[in-house]
Amino acid sequence: MTQAVGGIPLSRPYLDERDEELVLEVLRSGRLSLGPAIDRFEELFAERVGAPYAAAVSSGTAGLHLLAHAAALVPGDEVITSPVSFVATANCFLHEGAEPVFADVDPATLNVDPAAVEAAITPRTRAIVAVDMFGYPCELDALRALCERHGLTLIVDACEALGAEYRGRPVGSHGPSAVFGFYPNKQITTGEGGMVTTHSEEEWQLLRSLRNQGRSYDSRWFHHVRLGFNYRFTDLQAALGIAQLEKLDEILALRSDAAERYGSLLDGVDGVEAPLADDAEHRRSWFVYVVKLPRGVDREAVTARLKDDGIEAGHYVPCVHLQPYMRERFGFTEGLCPVAEEIATRTLALPFFAGIEPADQERVAESLARALA
Ligand SMILES: Cc1ncc(COP(=O)(O)O)c(C=O)c1O
Repeated sequence: MTQAVGGIPLSRPYLDERDEELVLEVLRSGRLSLGPAIDRFEELFAERVGAPYAAAVSSGTAGLHLLAHAAALVPGDEVITSPVSFVATANCFLHEGAEPVFADVDPATLNVDPAAVEAAITPRTRAIVAVDMFGYPCELDALRALCERHGLTLIVDACEALGAEYRGRPVGSHGPSAVFGFYPNKQITTGEGGMVTTHSEEEWQLLRSLRNQGRSYDSRWFHHVRLGFNYRFTDLQAALGIAQLEKLDEILALRSDAAERYGSLLDGVDGVEAPLADDAEHRRSWFVYVVKLPRGVDREAVTARLKDDGIEAGHYVPCVHLQPYMRERFGFTEGLCPVAEEIATRTLALPFFAGIEPADQERVAESLARALA
């Protein structure tokens, strides 16, 4: 892979001739939507993550929304979620009229802390949306047990975690339903797109209907049995998805190598904390490489120094509950989730993608060391 003109980008998709070949095949077939490539991609994806069913949708956000919709939430319901995530984790149920309740995260995993979730449960709680942040699997068993005990729906936002493993099995294989995302910074991309894996045939049929304007799955085109959405995936996206899945192992290995290299390069940089290492129960799928800067460091200044050296870096991620629309609507302020808030001021995503040049990683590490000196 060659370096982008002018600098090292934060992310970049991993594309080759095979992607072009399969997309071109679909393009020439004339079946651009609701065609066989979608079915094939769904089958291959389900097989890959070990889930019985998979439904492709137009984005990860759409997948999360469909699961929130399927949970039959009503205005006034509460849904507990993580402040350390992308806004879609919360937006999916806001669109259904439910109210967000943010439970603080574990400072090591950056995933929602099951004890904080339990403490946040009220008689109005209906669901939990957990996220495998930065590709590190959340505490699925503890959260599932909580949901069973309190009669709640669990939705897993695995948009960043394709290829991750929890307790020795792929994320997506355990149940309940999980959502994956294919935006170009993800492990595999379809441009835009997402996938919902489910362990229920009934839910799978419902998702397929909901994504397609509430149609029934017989041959009647203008026959709508429920209120649905247009969250359809295209066959062009599916073709790209198939080609990308074919090289998922290669992509994951390249990402792992790059993470390991950053680990050694940054070892000597004072005060920089590397992402949490795997343990027996959690195997991360490397999505982004987010370090924690030492307390008290001016992160804006560090980012500006990196930029001067042609290196793109990102503030991954600001707390969801402190986004302007959340503050305005729900009155959330600093202090609600102190662990998340403290970490969110110190995290920095470094350029990271499959095939990043080792020399570029060295440049990043050197630049970061200079910025912190
Ligand atoms: C944790 C998380 N949830 C949800 C999404 C939404 O996915 P999409 O951009 O495909 O709608 C993303 C990706 O951007 C994400 O990182």
